[in-house]
Amino acid sequence: MWDRKDLVSINDLTKKDIEMILDLADHFKDSKGKKLDSAKGYILGNVFFEPSTRTQRSFQAAMYRLGGNVLTHKDIGSSREKGESKEDTIRVFEQYCDVMVIRDPGIGSIKNYADILSVPVINAGDGSNEHPTQSLLDLCTIRNELKRLENLKVVLVGDLKYGRTVHSLVKALEQFDNNSFFGVSPESLGIPEEFRNKDYEQVEFTDLNEALRNIKPDIVYATRVQKERLSEGEEFSYEINSKTMDVLPKESVIMHPLPRVNELNPEIDSDPRVIPFKQAGYGLRTRMAVLAILLGKS
Ligand code: NCD
Repeated sequence: MWDRKDLVSINDLTKKDIEMILDLADHFKDSKGKKLDSAKGYILGNVFFEPSTRTQRSFQAAMYRLGGNVLTHKDIGSSREKGESKEDTIRVFEQYCDVMVIRDPGIGSIKNYADILSVPVINAGDGSNEHPTQSLLDLCTIRNELKRLENLKVVLVGDLKYGRTVHSLVKALEQFDNNSFFGVSPESLGIPEEFRNKDYEQVEFTDLNEALRNIKPDIVYATRVQKERLSEGEEFSYEINSKTMDVLPKESVIMHPLPRVNELNPEIDSDPRVIPFKQAGYGLRTRMAVLAILLGKS
């Protein structure tokens, strides 16, 4: 049972919880110019101990859209430069805000923070482990663009070992019927055992386009190679380009949590099947929904 105090892992959520969040997200679809007050009088603490563009800014925008305010922590210029610990920093932040979004390189770290904080805590990425709100926005994207969350053939490509978004995504999508997953990566960068299920197949990365031609996926979920987390000898790169688009079914989509580095050649950006920027856009309504629920205002 989700206690609606924190959102630390996608495993906290049942299928019903996910559907409820996605319904509320769609309810917030046209929030532009509206005076919403679900977060009126509340302050979000945005605390990122790792770089972020989309997650940080979409939570900030979501809070503004809901009528709330935001405090942002950056290590640079803070007492972290005097040696203050992360724990002390978040305990101080807690005094000034009503809900916190935290990103940290340590696996499992957000669970520990949530245990010591009494305000709701949202996991914005704990190292290579999980990124639950990214998966919710991915599901929001899929439901809106493909009109279903079932009967999907999903190809995960890239760095599936350290790319946390695919970990949470598989966990979320496996709650829905008849979804199958194909991990296309070097075996050493395959998805960790705990995120594999009976509907998961690891495909050795040799010829990506050939693999895609055979699988005929509904979704290709591409991920960045997490350079900052790789060990020696794990380096790897790949590119999805117009040749790849030629082998993909007409009704399929290419998703990517962004940032992209070399994985998606910009030459494919104008193909309507390539939707990473739309996907980032779905992050706003999804995060509005999560914030409204954790603030008890939905
Ligand atoms: C991802 C992340 O931080 O895990 N970005 C995001 O939140 N949209 C993906 C990545 O860093 O590769």
